[in-house]
Amino acid sequence: MKKVLITGGTSGLGLEIAKKLSRKKYHVTILGKDESKLENVKNDLRSKNISTIKCDLRNYQEIKRELKKVKDIDILINNAGIIAYEKIEKHDPGNIKEIIDVNLLGAIFVTKELIPLFKRKNSGIILNISSTSGLVTGGHAEECAYVASKFGVTGFTETLKKEMEEEGKNIRIFGFYPGGMNTPLFKKAGLKKDTSKFMDPAEIAEIVVFILERSDSINMDHVVVNRNKNL
Ligand SMILES: NC(=O)c1ccc[n+]([C@@H]2O[C@H](COP(=O)([O-])OP(=O)(O)OC[C@H]3O[C@@H](n4cnc5c(N)ncnc54)[C@H](OP(=O)(O)O)[C@@H]3O)[C@@H](O)[C@H]2O)c1
Repeated sequence: MKKVLITGGTSGLGLEIAKKLSRKKYHVTILGKDESKLENVKNDLRSKNISTIKCDLRNYQEIKRELKKVKDIDILINNAGIIAYEKIEKHDPGNIKEIIDVNLLGAIFVTKELIPLFKRKNSGIILNISSTSGLVTGGHAEECAYVASKFGVTGFTETLKKEMEEEGKNIRIFGFYPGGMNTPLFKKAGLKKDTSKFMDPAEIAEIVVFILERSDSINMDHVVVNRNKNL
């Protein structure tokens, strides 16, 4: 049974990926910052293939301490994220830092703590959920911190890929670049955005699972998924 860790698996895309994988032959560990949400997900999914780790990705010491509990891993999905829409001059510095901490440093720190396990096995997949906002063709005004964090995730992914290649490691590093999905991301940030026509995260999770299940000889390492804006 393959062991998967998903950051931010209590909601939205991460939760949909967790649901799909836990129904297959995977043991899924969901990392989240909210104990009650983690408990609810565990109860809702009613699967013996689910474990949880309570960890706030804004805190490196907590990441370091909590990830010591992970003894084996095959797939890491760096998915947790937060957003804000604000003009740069009005954007609260604490919130700017929080977005970079969760979206970018969270992914880097989690990977840093877990990569020795991947290296020991010389196998596995690290899939980073960036965004179309992490591509030169993407991003919107009033999303400076979010877009910067996602460009960071893109850069981190590409460099980590090179690092593994140079070391001759069979650890596959994938970047995933979705456009707008109908998840609680915006509402949690206090934004009134109509996301009803955005992509269904359950459908996007199916694509993620498809990518993860390709054989070792296939690298679907840069997948962009966007909605058909004519519909
Ligand atoms: N929705 C979109 O349109 C869209 C488009 C492109 C890319 N993305 C990316 O897709 C990923 C998933 O987002 P989503 O849309 O599914 O949003 P979501 O439903 O809000 O899920 C985000 C997850 O991250 C967790 N999280 C937030 N802050 C955290 C922290 N400090 N420590 C640990 N976990 C934390 C959340 O936990 P809580 O519920 O406890 O806050 C939640 O489980 C994000 O990286 C996002 O940037 C989203």
